[in-house]
Amino acid sequence: MDNRNRAMIVVFLLCATAETAAEGRSLDVCASCHFDATCNDLPYGSGKMCNCKYGFIGNGRTFCVDKDECQLRGICGPYSTCHNTRGSYYCTCLAGYSPSNNKDTFIPNDGTYCQDVDECRITGQCGEGGQCRNLNGSFSCSCQLGYEIHDGVEPFNPHRDKASCKLVDCGQPASGEDTVLLSVTGTSYGSVAVFDCDEGFVWRSGDRSSVCGADGRWRRLSMVCEEISCEEPVFKAHANMLWDGTSHMGSVVLYQCEDGYHTRSRRNSSVCAESGLWEDVDLWCEEISCGPPLTLPHTNLLWDGSGAPGSVLLYECVDGFYQEAGNNMSTCLLSGQWGEVSVQCKAKCGPAPFLPKSEVVWHNMSVVIHRCVSGHHSWRGGNVSVCGSSGEWQTATLRCIEIKPPVSHLCVLKEKCLRWRAEKYEEDTEDYKVTYVGSRDFQRSFHDRRKQFVSSKADQLELCLNLLPVTNYSISITAVSSRFTASITTSTSLPVPPAPAVYYREFETPVPTLRLRRSANTLDPISLYQVFVLPVEGIVMFDCSSPASSNPKIKSSAEYITAQFDVRHVGTEMNFTVGDGLDYGGFFNAPLENGRNYYIMLRAVSQWKSALKSSCVLWAEVRGTSYVLRVSSLSAAALIGLVAFFMMCGYSSSWFFKRTCHS
Ligand SMILES: *[C@@H]1O[C@H](CO)[C@@H](O)[C@H](O)[C@H]1NC(C)=O
Ligand SMILES: *[C@@H]1O[C@H](CO)[C@@H](O)[C@H](O)[C@H]1NC(C)=O
Ligand SMILES: *[C@@H]1O[C@H](CO)[C@@H](O)[C@H](O)[C@H]1NC(C)=O
Ligand SMILES: *[C@@H]1O[C@H](CO)[C@@H](O)[C@H](O)[C@H]1NC(C)=O
Ligand SMILES: *[C@@H]1O[C@H](CO)[C@@H](O)[C@H](O)[C@H]1NC(C)=O
Ligand SMILES: *[C@@H]1O[C@H](CO)[C@@H](O)[C@H](O)[C@H]1NC(C)=O
Ligand SMILES: *[C@@H]1O[C@H](CO)[C@@H](O)[C@H](O)[C@H]1NC(C)=O
Repeated sequence: MDNRNRAMIVVFLLCATAETAAEGRSLDVCASCHFDATCNDLPYGSGKMCNCKYGFIGNGRTFCVDKDECQLRGICGPYSTCHNTRGSYYCTCLAGYSPSNNKDTFIPNDGTYCQDVDECRITGQCGEGGQCRNLNGSFSCSCQLGYEIHDGVEPFNPHRDKASCKLVDCGQPASGEDTVLLSVTGTSYGSVAVFDCDEGFVWRSGDRSSVCGADGRWRRLSMVCEEISCEEPVFKAHANMLWDGTSHMGSVVLYQCEDGYHTRSRRNSSVCAESGLWEDVDLWCEEISCGPPLTLPHTNLLWDGSGAPGSVLLYECVDGFYQEAGNNMSTCLLSGQWGEVSVQCKAKCGPAPFLPKSEVVWHNMSVVIHRCVSGHHSWRGGNVSVCGSSGEWQTATLRCIEIKPPVSHLCVLKEKCLRWRAEKYEEDTEDYKVTYVGSRDFQRSFHDRRKQFVSSKADQLELCLNLLPVTNYSISITAVSSRFTASITTSTSLPVPPAPAVYYREFETPVPTLRLRRSANTLDPISLYQVFVLPVEGIVMFDCSSPASSNPKIKSSAEYITAQFDVRHVGTEMNFTVGDGLDYGGFFNAPLENGRNYYIMLRAVSQWKSALKSSCVLWAEVRGTSYVLRVSSLSAAALIGLVAFFMMCGYSSSWFFKRTCHS
């Protein structure tokens, strides 16, 4: 129920109430009013009257019927539709129009009317590429530039027609005569295709590009291309031309030298170039001639002097040479060069060279192999002689030398030293092992066995050994590299025996006890001590080397031996009392005479076979109590004598040597 209907119902209720209230007073006109009427006062209080309401027509009492406003033509204005309602009406607009009050419906009494709707305000109304045009109550579409109508005709209405706008497509541009497509930006309206002249053609006039038009077609290409063409090819002296007669770009002409002519040029063809010119060919056909022939060492050339192709050269070895290998013939080739020759001439060196103490094992004309004769050898050096290019033998370096033992000329030098010659190669170092064994007939238990090593580069060696005295040594030297051993014997001589340390004293008693100290020595088995008594009378002379075995009983005034000891029986210390009257080693220790002065000497003696060595020391001085002369003031002469003696002790007896060195 709309608002108007609701208002009418309210009016009706009010009237019903008014009628009820008036009933008691008089017959109420108003009560007889039609439902769709109102009760109005008449003018001047003349009563009341029923009138049909607005929108109704009737007498107000028995009938009020709806008035159809739409029957009044044009009530809603142009482009509208009128809609009647009970007691009223309203208007709507035709399609393509809308009420100017911006509502769906209107009643024209407020000035509202139907106005055209601009459908083109909504974008995309005509689809992609469509151009919208507004019409009274409608719109139409056409296609924009670059688009064309599809499935229909223009103008069209997309709500009504199937038609639509489609992008113009010119398709792939076609290249025209003598042109090639270089690039194209696309196939739609406005795309640009660029062309170039076909190969062998050159641009003359016109535009090189074409554009895709709105009609879907490429603009006609105005470009004009003209074919490239060269003139007649150039003539070359002494050359034949091979040419097919065409002169377009890329056409080739080939040049060939005539027979007997050749060229050093690598290129012998010319091509018609883009410039419309034949390429320049630097071609000279020259007469073929092989130049002067090669000279080869040690050869003579046999040649008729012609350098024409086919001419022949022959090389022969000169006198004194022979052809060892290779090809000795050469022909002049079409290339203008002599064919390869490789002849090798070798000198004839004559008979094999001679090397002292050698023999030839094998030989041919150029090689000789030598060998040392037996009993000779070569340390190093080549054993091959080769015939040199000069015609002389390059003789082998072999040097044949007699085979000798690695150790030779072994001899003894100065009793304790060895000398020998080494047999070895130049700077080589030889190692030697020297072993020596010493023995003594007088001392069976004695064995001196020792070893020593020597390394040397020397050709002659000397080696001194620490040999003990009075010993027979057997010495061997082994050259380690060859295990060769040479042997020799030597005997060492008897030396002066070592004197014991005596405690020198002066006594005033006729029975003095004397002391000595000594150290053991390897000469002990052949040594003895002798105690001498020298009575002091005038000048005393004492010869330490004299045998002095005189019997004291015979020579009472002269010196005598009073005691003798085998050294082996003397300890490291000994006390001896002179004049005790006892027998020592076969000598009588005679009592000393009172009142006489004596010197006591100690002599050490070593003796082996015919050799004898001795040394002496003054042991004591004995003063007789009755004697006035003091020994200390005795005489310088006595002491001089002693000194003289000691000098005499330096002599050595001769010994037999075996193979002593002779310089
Ligand atoms: C639309 O109607 C108006 C008024 O009636 C008129 O002036 C106008 O020319 C019409 N337009 C078209 C496109 O018919
Ligand atoms: C000339 O050149 C062509 C190709 O460049 C080659 O085939 C031909 O052998 C050449 N001719 C002569 C005679 O050198
Ligand atoms: C050339 O060499 C051949 C063997 O290769 C030989 O027989 C001929 O004698 C040689 N000619 C001369 C001239 O040396
Ligand atoms: C001689 O012999 C050597 C070595 O075998 C060899 O190289 C050479 O060619 C030979 N010489 C001759 C002329 O036979
Ligand atoms: C020649 O010397 C080589 C090496 O130096 C050796 O091998 C060869 O046996 C020697 N030939 C003769 C015959 O001595
Ligand atoms: C050394 O040898 C010789 C000969 O065999 C011999 O007479 C001598 O007594 C020996 N000498 C030693 C000190 O053994
Ligand atoms: C030698 O005599 C001294 C004293 O005069 C004594 O001390 C020593 O032991 C003695 N030596 C021997 C070997 O009798």
